Amino acid sequence: MGELTGDERAVIRRARSRVGAVVGLVITVLIGLVGAIAYSMMTHAQDRQVWREVRYNATYGEPATPPGCAWLFTDVDGEVNGGPIPPPAGFPLVDDLERARALRTAVEDVVERNGTVYLVRTQTRADGRTVQAVFDTRYQLADRRHLLLALGVAELVGLAVAAATALVVGQRAVAPLAEALVRQRRFVTDASHELRTPITQAYTRVQVLARQAADADLPADHRAGLDRLAAAIRRFGAIVDDLLLSARLAVGPGGHGGPLVDLCAVAETAVAAETDRAVDRRLTVTVDRPPDQLLVNGIESALLRAVGELLANAVNHTPAGGRIALTLCRAPGGVVQLTVGDSGEGFDPAVADRIFDRFHREPGGHERRYGLGLALLREVVAGHRGTVEATGHPGAGATFTIRLPGAPARPGAGRWWPVRSRAR
Ligand SMILES: Nc1ncnc2c1ncn2[C@@H]1O[C@H](COP(=O)(O)OP(=O)(O)OP(=O)(O)O)[C@@H](O)[C@H]1O
Ligand SMILES: [Mg+2]
Repeated sequence: MGELTGDERAVIRRARSRVGAVVGLVITVLIGLVGAIAYSMMTHAQDRQVWREVRYNATYGEPATPPGCAWLFTDVDGEVNGGPIPPPAGFPLVDDLERARALRTAVEDVVERNGTVYLVRTQTRADGRTVQAVFDTRYQLADRRHLLLALGVAELVGLAVAAATALVVGQRAVAPLAEALVRQRRFVTDASHELRTPITQAYTRVQVLARQAADADLPADHRAGLDRLAAAIRRFGAIVDDLLLSARLAVGPGGHGGPLVDLCAVAETAVAAETDRAVDRRLTVTVDRPPDQLLVNGIESALLRAVGELLANAVNHTPAGGRIALTLCRAPGGVVQLTVGDSGEGFDPAVADRIFDRFHREPGGHERRYGLGLALLREVVAGHRGTVEATGHPGAGATFTIRLPGAPARPGAGRWWPVRSRAR
């Protein structure tokens, strides 16, 4: 996952956890279900077998030779006799003997006593004796406890197995997704990279042609055509360069010692690029900046696009005569802050987060706007380990604040293609 962005990694992590949780849950529920079925079958079989034994003893057993864990009592005209083994405390159950003798019917009881459970059946036999059979179920109860313990251990082992299986299955299930994302980015970077050389060659060639055309005294419209061709190729080159930079940014070079960029200079370049439109719309644009540079590590063309997008939006959404103010300053924690505020139409605070979504457009928006600018801006800012937030109120203007980690001053690095702001 080395080539994935933070957002993509988060998506993959979420997908993996979801798959893992479902697999883990299914395994756990299955083990629980199997345990519950085994336990209920065992208790049911035990109950049936023990009651069968108690009833047999009550019908045929003799007090003198009781089977294991059982006691027999006979009651002849109120005289109760037990066997040679002393009975547990509280037995025989005199009430049951009297009831069975009086009603000449069988009475069955379950008695919890002496830390165990006794099954008791009292009945009057054909020979007139009333017999009470008592069975101590302590061994059956111990068996149940052992089974529960074994099931608990099995559940724990099952949980560990479920967790391990979930991890493996989760990883395998999302591997194609991660691969697809990496392949997509690779395609963009590889294609962009391969396009750079022919574009540079075409640009150089057209510049040479433009110079020769000037020397050869060609008609003015031919020279203008060559100039326009050179400008178009240069824009093409800038776009390809931006694609490469975005891909690089997406995997996070910002804040890791990228070239030093002065955010004040970026803001001023962006303002200069929008000046014609601002003048055209009778907007006042001000830049309030400290006298020294505000340096950040990053990619200048990407930052210029970000600030340019804020300015373009501000110009688009501010009616004639309005104001646009750029403020640059240092914020606590070594942060560099840029604010673009306007006195325009503003927006509903409830959509402040949503306007950063891809293709978000307010109803009635301009047809040639795609709702992409702020989404791309947020990616650029996030790639520089910064944040962007928007505040606004309908009719009361909008303010966008970008915060980036400041960088200590050091010599900057050059760039491959001349940077141009995206003018509208
Ligand atoms: N300065 C602003 N004042 C008021 N609303 C704004 C401002 N900037 C952005 N918005 C709102 O946020 C929405 C999204 O802006 P975004 O820049 O992403 O898209 P867009 O400008 O409509 O289209 P695109 O930038 O793709 O050409 C806009 O449609 C607009 O409703
Ligand atoms: Mg926009």
